[in-house]
Amino acid sequence: MLYDFFKTVAFKMDAEKAHELSIKALSSFPRTMAEAFGGDLQDKEKYQVDLNTMSWSFPVGLAAGLDKNAKAIDFFARIPFGAIEVGTVTPVGQVGNPKPRLFRYLKEESLRNCMGFNNDGAGRVLKNILSSERLGKVLGVNLGKNKDTSAENAHLDYLSLFKTFKDNCDYLVINVSSPNTPGLRDLQRHESMREIFESLEEERETCSTPLFIKISPDLPLDSLEGIVDLAREFRLSGIIATNTTIMEERGSGGISGKLLSKKGKIVRDRLLELMADYPDLDLIGVGGISCFDDVWDFWKKGGKACQIYSSFIFQGPDVLFEIKSGIDKKLKETGYKNVKELLKNIKDCK
Ligand SMILES: Cc1cc2nc3c(=O)[nH]c(=O)nc-3n(C[C@H](O)[C@H](O)[C@H](O)COP(=O)(O)O)c2cc1C
Repeated sequence: MLYDFFKTVAFKMDAEKAHELSIKALSSFPRTMAEAFGGDLQDKEKYQVDLNTMSWSFPVGLAAGLDKNAKAIDFFARIPFGAIEVGTVTPVGQVGNPKPRLFRYLKEESLRNCMGFNNDGAGRVLKNILSSERLGKVLGVNLGKNKDTSAENAHLDYLSLFKTFKDNCDYLVINVSSPNTPGLRDLQRHESMREIFESLEEERETCSTPLFIKISPDLPLDSLEGIVDLAREFRLSGIIATNTTIMEERGSGGISGKLLSKKGKIVRDRLLELMADYPDLDLIGVGGISCFDDVWDFWKKGGKACQIYSSFIFQGPDVLFEIKSGIDKKLKETGYKNVKELLKNIKDCK
């Protein structure tokens, strides 16, 4: 109800303006806003999912890009998100692409953005993280290269970001999949990814911070096997799939939300097949997830933790409560006492 009212006002404004004002309000009054939207879950153990390298208190986390500068962690930690991913952060702050650069498709519950990694830079984001109250929630930091950094030097940006954040978060993500930084997606070529991971090797020996790679849904399906191989070779914690998709007929930038769900699912399903033999790798599912049925489908295929962005914009925190209700219903039907048990026995569930 409250979110419906909020949306009526916010959706009358330009999308980016509404976003900025919302982040301002959420960061200024995190407790009050979180309570007004229903607060957090009490019984966190019931909904906990265990990945190989971390445990989330709820199977759904906040995807990167919504809180790019880590300003509203205190709010997001107080609603049922199991993890919060901030960023994408680049070494030096940058303004991003010219505005307007964020568009809504109301009927299709989708967004198109060509933001271009606008962010305050690593130093400011680190400061915000250090002064935030996480309340035990998992915090991820999503890393990207500056627009002015050449492809040859991209690995140096990722290295400097890795050093800055490795001891100040619960996991890190190498983002090579945004369509809005020229040439970034080319870094998904295996030689480029190899160069990035090789340059991180020495630093990674000094810590145990889980490292993920976030990929595009527009990669050819037959290239996914190579990415899984690379993830194994460099002992990554896993893969985050997917970022936004390009739909040229809609204009420049990346599409997210329901218009992405089919493509995102195809990529995730293929990855889950490929990763089935490598239980040390986790897949974090993102892209078009908007209700419990989407989470259930991901679980049935072997996934555990997922993230949302667009459905949070269109439904607000209600989407998390709808997913919670779906879980409660399944637990009641099956007699399992928590999500961990449910996931262990998921193959036997209808
Ligand atoms: C406005 C906007 C900005 C985004 N910025 C980032 C970003 O900075 N880094 C990133 O990895 N993904 C970014 N994303 C992609 C989301 O994290 C997510 O992968 C994508 O939106 C698909 O999920 P969804 O369908 O739930 O929105 C952004 C998405 C949107 C809509």
